[in-house]
Amino acid sequence: MEDGLNAYVGTIFDLHNRTAIVSGGAGLLGREFCKALASAGANIVLADNDEISMDSAEKEIRGMYKNSPITKHIIDVTNEKSISECVMFTEREFGNIDILVNSAAIDPKFDEDSDTSSYSSFAEFPIDLWNKSTEVNLTGTFLLTQAVCRNMERRGKGSVINLGSNYGLVGPDQGIYKRKDEKPQSYKPVVYSVCKAGIIGFTKYLAAYYAGTEIRVNVLTPSGVYNKQDDFFVKNYASRTILRRMSNKNEFWGGVIFLASDASSYMTGGNLIIDGGWTAW
Ligand SMILES: NC(=O)c1ccc[n+]([C@@H]2O[C@H](COP(=O)([O-])OP(=O)(O)OC[C@H]3O[C@@H](n4cnc5c(N)ncnc54)[C@H](O)[C@@H]3O)[C@@H](O)[C@H]2O)c1
Repeated sequence: MEDGLNAYVGTIFDLHNRTAIVSGGAGLLGREFCKALASAGANIVLADNDEISMDSAEKEIRGMYKNSPITKHIIDVTNEKSISECVMFTEREFGNIDILVNSAAIDPKFDEDSDTSSYSSFAEFPIDLWNKSTEVNLTGTFLLTQAVCRNMERRGKGSVINLGSNYGLVGPDQGIYKRKDEKPQSYKPVVYSVCKAGIIGFTKYLAAYYAGTEIRVNVLTPSGVYNKQDDFFVKNYASRTILRRMSNKNEFWGGVIFLASDASSYMTGGNLIIDGGWTAW
């Protein structure tokens, strides 16, 4: 089995001859989505606005799947011209676009080296961060999906996967984000919850809009991924989950392959929640 790329051949999870654009494909989860789709044989366009991270992501994925038909293209999801160039590039390289993973986001992280200084209290929350986040997380998702759907409409078929969060479903427990002796305190930003809740509305709208076609639109909802956060944070976060731990970054592979492939052929307008049970109690 060359590179393990044939593992799903002959199954409903097989993605050979299917093409995926993964926006934010250089991110922490974005590159895992690329690896997962590559493992099922998909053609992949890794699209991101961070060229350096994109290079390292491509290298990482090629290290695992030497013969994967993966390529990369710079994109700014807030810019229609840039989106159009990326979509045209994908069409030139591979023809049809079968899968879109909308993973590009401003995702306020609390990792060891994150700068949390702009994650202020609700009363002080900066309008700049509100605007920047809604522009990428909501407008960017809308613009890229619109451009890709023009391609999917030609065949009346495709799978759009939008990224949610447990915080699109329930409010953050700010106690988790309180760091010892930190002044002023950092908070998980209000705009993140607003965007992730908006993603669910966008998904349901679009799924319903494409009624009677095979264009399916779903949300994949992760919760916090372990990425070298400090012990205090990890312990607090883990205690809020039923599984009593944060997720590992590779624990969404099955979810993305499922939503991208024929395995989820009867699922649209849905939300695949992979959150260790966070929202179940
Ligand atoms: N990591 C988590 O703990 C977690 C938990 C729940 C949900 N999510 C969601 O999953 C998705 C992926 O998360 P991640 O951990 O990979 O995030 P990340 O911050 O590591 O990656 C986001 C990527 O988007 C790119 N990006 C930002 N602005 C862009 C733009 N204008 N155009 C193109 N690319 C742009 C960044 O360069 C980055 O590579 C996000 O929607 C996030 O909100 C993540």
